[in-house]
Amino acid sequence: MLVKKDVYILGIESSCDETSISIVKNGYEEIATTVLTQMDTHALYGGVVPEIASRMHTENITMVLEDVLKKANMSVDQVDAIAVTYAPGLLGGLLVGVEFAKVLSLVYDKPLIATHHIAGHIYANNLVDRLEFPLLALVVSGGHTELVKMSGDYQFEVLGTTKDDAIGECYDKVARVLDLPYPGGPNVEKYALKGEHTYELPKPMDNDSLDFSFSGLKSAVINLSHNEIQRGHEVRKYDLAKSFQDVAVEQVVRKTKLAIDKYKDEIKEVIVAGGVSANGYLRDELKKLCDEENIKLSIPPLKYCTDNATMIACAAYPQFLKGDFADLSLRAQSQEYFFSSPSVNNNQ
Ligand code: KG4
Ligand code: ZN
Repeated sequence: MLVKKDVYILGIESSCDETSISIVKNGYEEIATTVLTQMDTHALYGGVVPEIASRMHTENITMVLEDVLKKANMSVDQVDAIAVTYAPGLLGGLLVGVEFAKVLSLVYDKPLIATHHIAGHIYANNLVDRLEFPLLALVVSGGHTELVKMSGDYQFEVLGTTKDDAIGECYDKVARVLDLPYPGGPNVEKYALKGEHTYELPKPMDNDSLDFSFSGLKSAVINLSHNEIQRGHEVRKYDLAKSFQDVAVEQVVRKTKLAIDKYKDEIKEVIVAGGVSANGYLRDELKKLCDEENIKLSIPPLKYCTDNATMIACAAYPQFLKGDFADLSLRAQSQEYFFSSPSVNNNQ
C-alpha cells in the first residue's frame, strides 16, 4: 500500500524589511513561524534603507532559524526541502536569504526551492482554505496590480494589469505627499478612517477594460496638495487620504466586478493577494461585492498579508510536488515579473 508521507517545507523570506522563517506541513498547515520586522529602524529614516536592511537580515537570520526550530520542536534534518524567496525585492536582502538557504540545503542535503514572492502572497490563501481552481486572483501589492485567472497550481492567465503604477506604490507615494511616516500604506489607511471624502479626484480607467491605472490619481493628489499649499490653504490630510482611498479602492472593486461578471461560469472563487490586501476598507468592499455576486471570497488573515515566510513555504509545496528544484547556481533577482516567467524555478 502506498502511504503518502507528509511534506515539511522550511521557508525563508528576506526580500524587504522582514526576516522570516517558517515550517509548513503539506502546503497549508503552519507548524511554526518567526517574523522579525525591521520596521521601527527604517521608520527613523522615512523608508527602507537597503544597506541597513541587508545588514540586519545578516545579523538576525541565524537567530530567526533557531527560534522557529525551537517553536516547532524540530531540527532542519526533519524538513523535506528548503524554500526561499529569490525575487523580487531588495537585492541585498534577497541575497542573504538565498545564500542562507543554499548553505542549509548543502549542509543538510535537502532540495532547494526558488519561490517568487508574489507566488507566496497568492498561496497564503491556502492557510485559510485550500485553493479551488479555476479561480480569480486579485493581486494588489507594492509592485503588482493584476487580475489573474488560475486554472491550476502555477497556471496563470493575466486578465488585466496596471498600465503604470501599482496600487501599493501609489499608496506609498500619497503617504509621502501627505508627509505621513513609514510605512506609507497602513498610515494612509489610518488617516482615511478619520476623514471625509471631500476632495474631488479623477476616476481612473472608467471603461470596460480589466486593466488598471494609478499614476493619474497619484498626480492628481500631488497637484491638489501643491495647489492648496501655494494658495496658503491647509491640506486636510484626513480628508485627502479618505478621498484618495475611496477612488483607489473603487477602481479595484469595479474591475474585480467586471472580471467576475465575465468569468462567473468558469471560476469557483475569488482570492486576494499582496500587501494591500491588509487594507480594511478594501477587504470590506470586496466582501460586499462577493456577497452580492454570490461567489466565495478568500483573503488571508492580516498577519499573512504582510511579508512572512509562511506564505513562501506554502507556495513552495506545489513546486516540491512537481520536482521543481533549484541548484546552487540560484541567484537572487531584484526584479522579475512573476506572471511572465515561464517557470517559477528561474535559476540561470
Ligand atoms: O505585497 P507587498 O509586500 O509588496 C510587494 O511584495 O511588492 O506589499 C507592500 C505594499 C506597500 O506598498 C504597502 O504600503 C502596502 O502594501 N500596504 C498597504 C497596507 N498595508 C500594506 N496599503 C494600503 N493599506 C494597507 N493597510
Ligand atoms: Zn510582499
